[in-house]
Amino acid sequence: MENNAEPGAIVEAQAVSKEYALGGQTVTALHEIWLSIEKSEFMALAGPSGSGKSTLLNLIGCIDTPTGGTIHIEGHDISGKTADELADLRLNKLGFVFQTFNLLPVLSAQENVEYPLMQQSSVDKKMRQERVRHYLNVVGLERYAHHRPNELSGGQRQRVAIARALATHPSIVLADEPTANLDHKTGEGILTLMKDINQKEGTTFIFSTHDAKVMQMADRVIELTDGRITK
Ligand SMILES: Nc1ncnc2c1ncn2[C@@H]1O[C@H](COP(=O)(O)OP(=O)(O)OP(=O)(O)O)[C@@H](O)[C@H]1O
Ligand SMILES: [Mg+2]
Repeated sequence: MENNAEPGAIVEAQAVSKEYALGGQTVTALHEIWLSIEKSEFMALAGPSGSGKSTLLNLIGCIDTPTGGTIHIEGHDISGKTADELADLRLNKLGFVFQTFNLLPVLSAQENVEYPLMQQSSVDKKMRQERVRHYLNVVGLERYAHHRPNELSGGQRQRVAIARALATHPSIVLADEPTANLDHKTGEGILTLMKDINQKEGTTFIFSTHDAKVMQMADRVIELTDGRITK
């Protein structure tokens, strides 16, 4: 296993940049980002709209690839990986929570949580059912297992998305503005839940937010401005 990354760092971004080609012009969304994230950190990404938060989360989450620089996840350089290896990494190491929840509308809460588990060959049917039950319980939705997303409130949908992200036992959960579509109180509840899981299970959380109250709950806040870390 190659390992240029700092010991203990679960994510190591070295001179990571991202350029988008847009109508003959080049937009630089990230300029040479250097960032080291420790295992079990509860870290917030702050910064104005367009500063590069989603871009950075997508690069760490292997949803997109950098134009320059390298990213190591648990010591593995992800730039050398094939599409299949990246899909494997996303399935087994990473969990995602999106601003708009991204639940499958025709599936119940329980089935949404179960869905990624069905792709994990190491998890058999019995284990899968236990995991689904456990994580619906963790997010307080055991009574809503058979509800479809449109039969749930926004906060409940976001909790299903969190249960889905956690059920595969990822080492890192990436959450892009997980509270943006929720009222303050519900948003704080979601954050408290994430923090709880972070402390109990040691899962690393990296989340973006515009909300000052949410930032206060983080161990560390990284601020982006125009694609650069400014704090
Ligand atoms: N697919 C794309 N093609 C071209 N430019 C893009 C693309 N995605 C993002 N950008 C540009 O990259 C920059 C960073 O965008 P990004 O979505 O990462 O910002 P953000 O910090 O997440 O903003 P917000 O708080 O509004 O979600 C912006 O200037 C944006 O216009
Ligand atoms: Mg964004």
